[in-house]
Amino acid sequence: MRNLLVTGGAGFIGSNFVHHVLEHTDDHVTVLDKLTYAGNRASLDGLPAERLTFIHGDITDAPLVDRLFADVDAVVHYAAESHNDNSLHDPRPFLDTNIIGTYTLLEAARRHGRRFHHISTDEVYGDLELDDPSRFTEQTPYNPSSPYSSTKAGSDLLVRAWVRSFGVQATISNCSNNYGPYQHVEKFIPRQITNVIRGIRPKLYGAGENVRDWIHADDHSSAVLTILDKGEIGETYLIGADGEKNNKDVVELILELMGEPKDAYDHVTDRAGHDLRYAIDSTKLRTELGWQPTYGDFEAGLAATVQWYRENESWWAPAKDGVEAFYASKGQ
Ligand code: NAD
Ligand code: DAU
Repeated sequence: MRNLLVTGGAGFIGSNFVHHVLEHTDDHVTVLDKLTYAGNRASLDGLPAERLTFIHGDITDAPLVDRLFADVDAVVHYAAESHNDNSLHDPRPFLDTNIIGTYTLLEAARRHGRRFHHISTDEVYGDLELDDPSRFTEQTPYNPSSPYSSTKAGSDLLVRAWVRSFGVQATISNCSNNYGPYQHVEKFIPRQITNVIRGIRPKLYGAGENVRDWIHADDHSSAVLTILDKGEIGETYLIGADGEKNNKDVVELILELMGEPKDAYDHVTDRAGHDLRYAIDSTKLRTELGWQPTYGDFEAGLAATVQWYRENESWWAPAKDGVEAFYASKGQ
């Protein structure tokens, strides 16, 4: 039994990880989360209170972080500003949390000699052409496009430097696009599902040809636990489940699953600098650490996600109007 510190554990992927850990291990979890607009304490409702401690705080608060690191065995670092569109509107919080926050945690990991796992994204590699037969691997050079992805790339490089210069016991994972329960309505899939529930037409950026490599958040969680248990210090692992789909196909599938005509959506202003395609080759994680995804069927996973948003309107409704007003102000 370990005592794990999970930063950003009230966010989308962090909360899915906390649910996964409490279900599949005997570990105790301490969540450190600032509860920004993206964090929701309710995402952790119903979990066993004796195995979960919630700390409302900021990862840039060095004294707080230092106190928490003293009492844990390992740290899994999810906390971030995570949305590309927000980073185009106001990049500053991305620098504070993603760069200074990660630096603050690394310094505490160094002082306390703690095992540290850094959660990152495939967006650090930039994008691929639609007809490029290659996929991202651990050897792909960094080439981030947006303020968000450049701060994530910067945070990855800090982790690598703290491993090499100070011997911090860290690993890194770069995962593709996640879907599943507890994702904020600003993101593509929940935005379109909740639009349909509200009677609003889904909004597709540009022509909708952009490809994302979808993985269920629970498969991301099992991959992170595998790396925490078996990963080699200093190594980077790419996490993906062979889920490439273009946005147009995803919108049409959502409409179909929700009983609406396939063409009942609008094309809206494209995202500035919009990455064309992400694709992950997760051979290293699969062959060296023996991980496999379990949600092979995207359509079934998406149907379950639609059902979750139908059944949990009280979880997402408070954020919906504000998000749509923000997008409307940008023609999106
Ligand atoms: P999210 O925006 O849903 O959640 C982020 C969480 O971090 C929120 O609970 C927020 O309150 C918290 N947070 C933000 N700033 C903080 C701070 N300064 N101190 C403490 N807590 C803070 O994000 P997500 O989609 O769950 O992403 C989690 C991590 O996974 C991020 O590091 C992201 O880069 C990475 N990632 C996301 C995806 C994806 O598809 N969403 C894919 C690959 C990697
Ligand atoms: O690849 C991993 C990344 O995936 C993570 O690092 C990010 O934190 C996460 O937000 C996600 O980034 P994307 O920018 O790919 O996700 P988003 O949900 O914002 O958009 C997915 C695709 O859908 C993208 O091509 C933009 C498009 N889109 C998005 C919205 C919100 C639309 O067409 N319409 C929309 O309304």
